[in-house]
Amino acid sequence: MPETARTGPSTTPTETRLTQTTPAQTGSSTTGPATTGSTPGPGGTIPDLPGSTPTGAGRPASGSHSVYRSLRRLYPYLRPAMPYLIGSAAVAAVATLCGLAFPLVLRKIIDGPIAERNTNGLWLPALLLVLLGIGEAVLFNVRRLLAGRPIVRVEQAMRDALYSRLQALPVAFHDRWPAGQLISRAASDLGIIRRFMAFGAVFLVVNIGTFMVGVVILMSLSLPLGLIVAALAVPLVALSWFYESRYQTLARRSQDQGGDLTTTVEESVLGIRIIKAFGRSAHLGRRFLDQARALRGTELSKAKVISMLWAVIILLPEVSLGLALIFGVRQVANGEMTAGELVAFFGVAMGLRWPIDSIGWLLALANDTAAATDRFFEVMDSEITIASPGRPVSPGGRAGRLRFSDVSYRFPDAFADSRPLLSGLNLDVAAGETVAVVGSTGSGKTTLTALVERLYDVCGGSITLDGVDLRDYDLADLRERVAIGFEEPTLFSASVRENVLLGKPEGTDDEVREALRIAQAGFVDELPWGLDTRIGEQGMSLSGGQRQRLALARAVVGRPSVLVLDDPLSALDIHTEAQVESALRSVLGSTTALLIAHRASTVMLADRVALLADGRIAAIGSHSELMATVPEYRYLLSSDETADSMLKDLAARGMSR
Ligand SMILES: Nc1ncnc2c1ncn2[C@@H]1O[C@H](COP(=O)(O)OP(=O)(O)OP(=O)(O)O)[C@@H](O)[C@H]1O
Ligand SMILES: [Mg+2]
Repeated sequence: MPETARTGPSTTPTETRLTQTTPAQTGSSTTGPATTGSTPGPGGTIPDLPGSTPTGAGRPASGSHSVYRSLRRLYPYLRPAMPYLIGSAAVAAVATLCGLAFPLVLRKIIDGPIAERNTNGLWLPALLLVLLGIGEAVLFNVRRLLAGRPIVRVEQAMRDALYSRLQALPVAFHDRWPAGQLISRAASDLGIIRRFMAFGAVFLVVNIGTFMVGVVILMSLSLPLGLIVAALAVPLVALSWFYESRYQTLARRSQDQGGDLTTTVEESVLGIRIIKAFGRSAHLGRRFLDQARALRGTELSKAKVISMLWAVIILLPEVSLGLALIFGVRQVANGEMTAGELVAFFGVAMGLRWPIDSIGWLLALANDTAAATDRFFEVMDSEITIASPGRPVSPGGRAGRLRFSDVSYRFPDAFADSRPLLSGLNLDVAAGETVAVVGSTGSGKTTLTALVERLYDVCGGSITLDGVDLRDYDLADLRERVAIGFEEPTLFSASVRENVLLGKPEGTDDEVREALRIAQAGFVDELPWGLDTRIGEQGMSLSGGQRQRLALARAVVGRPSVLVLDDPLSALDIHTEAQVESALRSVLGSTTALLIAHRASTVMLADRVALLADGRIAAIGSHSELMATVPEYRYLLSSDETADSMLKDLAARGMSR
């Protein structure tokens, strides 16, 4: 079973509805542009920050890249719709043949009743013409009805697959990919693919078939004239080949640039408060305009290529029809051809104009689709590096002993010659023990917590829980045993209940209330609909401290064996912090906990404190021991402790508010 099925948050019906809305995310979004700007996403596009390469310079498909090879990869998704598509193509072919038969009936009329001046003989062929007209119209409608639904289902299946893949891909993947590139793949690229499958592919086949059948009919009417039209195929194929390779590169660039534009819009919307607060609206507006201009430039280049192709494609049949007309009139004059045959010839030849004219834009659509398909499979082909093992181990007991042995970690995009962020890290947290981890900013505390949930995998050494390597656990099992309260309290636009029960959807209201009590989130009772109040983007806005308390409730609700809290009390006032701490004490008493702490008051909750420095645990002991013996620890916590004790004193005297 893929990771998605086990990671809970990604697959439960409730959670798929959730939309992320968080001030923390807003905050990070403002750093997003810089990150994106300096780090080319795998989509390959780099926004316009100083020193970076121009937008859309990503992974243009090379001219030699085969459109067919790209499109062929769609087949597994298309398979269920194939009978309908074949039916649709067959119906379209019959409809087109009705159109081609029209001039042949005209020929019979001209050479028959009209030449013989027999008006009675007109009725039957006239009725046939009406029937052919009606048949053509009805069949084209049937074609649309046949292909419509199955293709929408194919699009849905592809979108579902993409969404599942995005959920299953590791955090490291999402660190690298700009959100807009992923959103544009899930939205506009799949739309392009649907249009091609429902319409373009069918008509590409039908129109080429019609051209061939039409040429055979023309040759049967007059071999030399038919050959003049058949000769069109040679320059048409050559031209299509020539323009296709030029168009292909542009098609890919335009879609990448569309992704960049989506990223800018997404970041601007999520980071709107910070953008406004720093007065950066004009700057971002300019950036957006520059990107939009680049996209427009690419679209115009596409239009130029396609219009040149189109001009030639439209001109060639005109020339060949002109030539055929000159020869045809002479043949009629010489008595080698009847007037009816000449009319029929031109009727059929005119009927071939749409199949020929359409080749230009059908090829363009095929190229757009090939580029969209490549972009889709770039995500689908990305490796799921963090997954459950084939034979997971699940120790019966849930004591919660956590052990880091010689752990090292380096981010994949770190400079090759830089030191690993964590290296030779050893830490043993006994069952039921609370260890606080203290370290300077950027020392790797958050990264350390992420390793315990396997959001990233260690690069060296191992982490064991109750004696079993984390990589040997089923991911769902592991994530049930270990709960994490993130530094940034991300909430989703859903009810309070759904947010708290994110990791335990089957939890009861009593459990939610108990978790809210521990997190001192009594404010929920004052919300208009209590636990049912929707929070986030489409609902109530919460303060930073309120969000943090809900995130804390979410971490404790499942009563995990290991609780990892990344600075969970930073946004709380000292008064609330003291209350949360006393409630947390009861939870921490029965749970193994790793507590990232910046303040002395949080450290006080722990049995032992570990100092993270230079990528390893540099010192471990009680708070007072470390204060007395480790200068770096004293430096990190001393002034804080003084301030904290002052504030606590104030709080005790009821003056903290
Ligand atoms: N996804 C990432 N890709 C590359 N480098 C990263 C990534 N996330 C963090 N880093 C880098 O790793 C280092 C440690 O980051 P981390 O967030 O673990 O620090 P921290 O100790 O939690 O800091 P703070 O106290 O500010 O929360 C930082 O230098 C950061 O730039
Ligand atoms: Mg951190």
